[in-house]
Amino acid sequence: MRYGYFDDVEREYVITQPDTPLPWINYLGSQAYFCLISNTAGGYSFYKDARLRRLTRYRYNNAPLDCSGRYIYLRDDGASVAQTEELFWSPSWQPTRTPLDAYECRHGMGYTVIRSTLAQIEASTRYFVPMGENLEVWELTLTNHRTERAQLSVFSSVEFNLWDAMDDATNFQRNYNVGEVEVADGVIFHKTEYRERRDHFAYLACSEPIAGFDTQREAFLGPYRGYAAPVGVESGGLSDSIAHGWQPVGVQHVKVELQAGESKKIIFLLGYHENPHDAKFDPPESQTINKRLVLPTIQKYLQAKQVEKSFQELRAFWDDLFGKFQITTPDEHTNRMVNIWNVYQMMVTFNLSRSASYFESGIGRGMGFRDSNQDLLGFMHLLPERARERILDLAATQMPTGGAYHQYQPLTKRGNNDVGSNFNDDPLWLILSVAAYLKETGEWGILDEAVPYENQSGTEEPLYGHLQRSIQYTLDRLGPHGLPLIGRADWNDCLNLNCFSDSPGQSFQTTTNKDGKVAESVFIAGLFVLAAQEMQAIAHHRGDAADVRAYIEAADTMAKAVWSAGWDGDWFRRAYDDMGRALGSRENDEGRIFIEPQGICVMAGMGLEDGRALQALDSVAEHLETPHGIVLHQPAFTRYYLHLGEISSYPPGYKENAGIFCHANPWIMISEAMVGRGDKAYEYYLLINPSVREDISEVHKCEPYVYAQMIAGKDAPTHGEAKNSWLTGTATWNYVAVTQWILGIRPTYAGLEIDPVLPSDWDGFEAVRYYRGVRYRIKVERHGTGSTVRLEVNGSPVDGRVIPLPEDKSGEVEVHLCLG
Ligand code: GLC
Ligand code: GLC
Repeated sequence: MRYGYFDDVEREYVITQPDTPLPWINYLGSQAYFCLISNTAGGYSFYKDARLRRLTRYRYNNAPLDCSGRYIYLRDDGASVAQTEELFWSPSWQPTRTPLDAYECRHGMGYTVIRSTLAQIEASTRYFVPMGENLEVWELTLTNHRTERAQLSVFSSVEFNLWDAMDDATNFQRNYNVGEVEVADGVIFHKTEYRERRDHFAYLACSEPIAGFDTQREAFLGPYRGYAAPVGVESGGLSDSIAHGWQPVGVQHVKVELQAGESKKIIFLLGYHENPHDAKFDPPESQTINKRLVLPTIQKYLQAKQVEKSFQELRAFWDDLFGKFQITTPDEHTNRMVNIWNVYQMMVTFNLSRSASYFESGIGRGMGFRDSNQDLLGFMHLLPERARERILDLAATQMPTGGAYHQYQPLTKRGNNDVGSNFNDDPLWLILSVAAYLKETGEWGILDEAVPYENQSGTEEPLYGHLQRSIQYTLDRLGPHGLPLIGRADWNDCLNLNCFSDSPGQSFQTTTNKDGKVAESVFIAGLFVLAAQEMQAIAHHRGDAADVRAYIEAADTMAKAVWSAGWDGDWFRRAYDDMGRALGSRENDEGRIFIEPQGICVMAGMGLEDGRALQALDSVAEHLETPHGIVLHQPAFTRYYLHLGEISSYPPGYKENAGIFCHANPWIMISEAMVGRGDKAYEYYLLINPSVREDISEVHKCEPYVYAQMIAGKDAPTHGEAKNSWLTGTATWNYVAVTQWILGIRPTYAGLEIDPVLPSDWDGFEAVRYYRGVRYRIKVERHGTGSTVRLEVNGSPVDGRVIPLPEDKSGEVEVHLCLG
């Protein structure tokens, strides 16, 4: 069953009924000011950091779902001429949930339009964040389709959050006293804590004269009433309340008279502004906000012309990004994801890592070290300058040991251990992101950038030194089999082999963890081999022969350790536990085979020559494949194991306990492409492709336009149901898998390589890709089995598959690949 459809021309997903199985959301903003917005206008806004600078409140885990948002109400004031029984309603359906005569929500690239009709009054609201601004526009267009005049009231409403979202949700003895607002010329300013150390405030402005306002929540709602039926809307008049403590809100009342057939635009702005510390007040000795600096911005965006211009700029920004790589293949799901939604999702994960979604409250997590490095892998060609900055930010939180803080807060850029530390895979991901940057841009200067450790000035060292320490970090922590010690956990956060937590509620990530010298990870071993190979290539480019030798040797030694202790006979083992027993082995009753080491070890090239890679991949197909994707391991853990930790805390089939953890699926797609099995790679690609799953939206439940972190595995009663959409490494890895390995358009240190491994029923595809400033027009044709390959560049045959870098950077390169 579907709840809408893709409009690929407009790059939109169009939702046609408001009661989707879960809120289906979009993200607005791409630099500092961000919003989450659902198909019924739910969601919240923040500046840079969803925890520390939250503008509006959101009630997670509420009933009904998706409560609080940027709500507009319409009220039919001409009761005597009204052609409906409805006195008031929400044009976005929530929160009144009044049945609408027509409804459509278009989630587009950085904007959302919700359009509905009731009682012949059409309301269309376009929400977006203008480029470079710290505000969101809600542009409401009302149209009277009646044959007579309509007298309407429009109400805007937001509930302000007291900045720190964690404190806001817990510290009521203080917070019920500190809320403050100002109202001036119809603009509502939220200025809690502005009197003391904050230099910032929020505002809600409107392009029309205001008939009234409320800023005290209970005055607007009425005692014991909710947003579904605010007394202010019902009665048609607000009380001009000024919040003193309690829950400050922004509510404005606009009266509108529309002739038959007439339309009118009303613009609302919700924004954030920071004043210079020494110019906070006006007059300076007062406690009144200095509004002189913000008013010009407000005036500017209350103009319909400016709003339209900014909207066009936003579209142009995205057009430009999408123009960097477009494909035409025989499959619409592949085209749609690669050309539109997968890129869009990568941008969102780049911006927010795992901090703010409908499953991540914005309170718990900042920018993850492991996550953000991976998020860059497919992102490089989009905005390489921003990728560069992110790499340097991440590296600056690294520790002198080479280890890493697991995350940093975007507002401060300082690393912290709030979600644990000593995840021993962390530092190696930095090498992968830097390697991807170099392959994309060829800008080797980044390696010489002086970057501090733990953000301490005076500790700067060239980035290359950081990478060397990342390698050394693993080498300094080897276990009894010569495999890397796992530490707190590796990529699988929930494989906690040193934790032994027996108290309810303890965090598996932050509970004191024994500094185990036994538990080892085959996954980190594979990741190490991959990273050491990149280091070897980087050292080679730098002309450092000694380093080249050292990295070759390190990779060889590690690969030997994997073959002697990490190979189980038919697949790669997963780990050794604290007692030195193998996990992910035929010796185990539960957790006999895991996806992660099969993916990472084959990606590192292990077993490609002697058939063992194929054997490992066949084992994946035999034991882990399901109709909804590849599960993390089998058999699922049916009970809690003290020595395994969080992985066994989940009921079977969910999350890391044998869920379809989508992030790891593309590793198998890549591996299948590496062994040349295009059909299998592509089959796995389609299984979790959200657009393919659109048809089973009632099962999948999450948005059909973005990947989710997890789809319930075959051991779960809800097999096929997705959770944790949007913020997942799945976005970047699927993009890498399909573009670089299935389509085979792969940046290398030497240039762009074309090495497709296509499904057998494709006769080719076309692509346009910008690479190092040059436009490549690529045409791949297949006439036979693909055993012979002919590459022509600008009409001349070329040996191998790497296109030599052109002299002329402004030109265009025609690439023709014939698979015979
Ligand atoms: C989540 C985390 C990621 C981790 C994965 C597997 O997606 O954000 O860091 O690798 O879970 O546990
Ligand atoms: C990852 C896992 C999740 C775990 C969390 C701990 O996100 O997916 O299951 O609870 O890490 O931080």
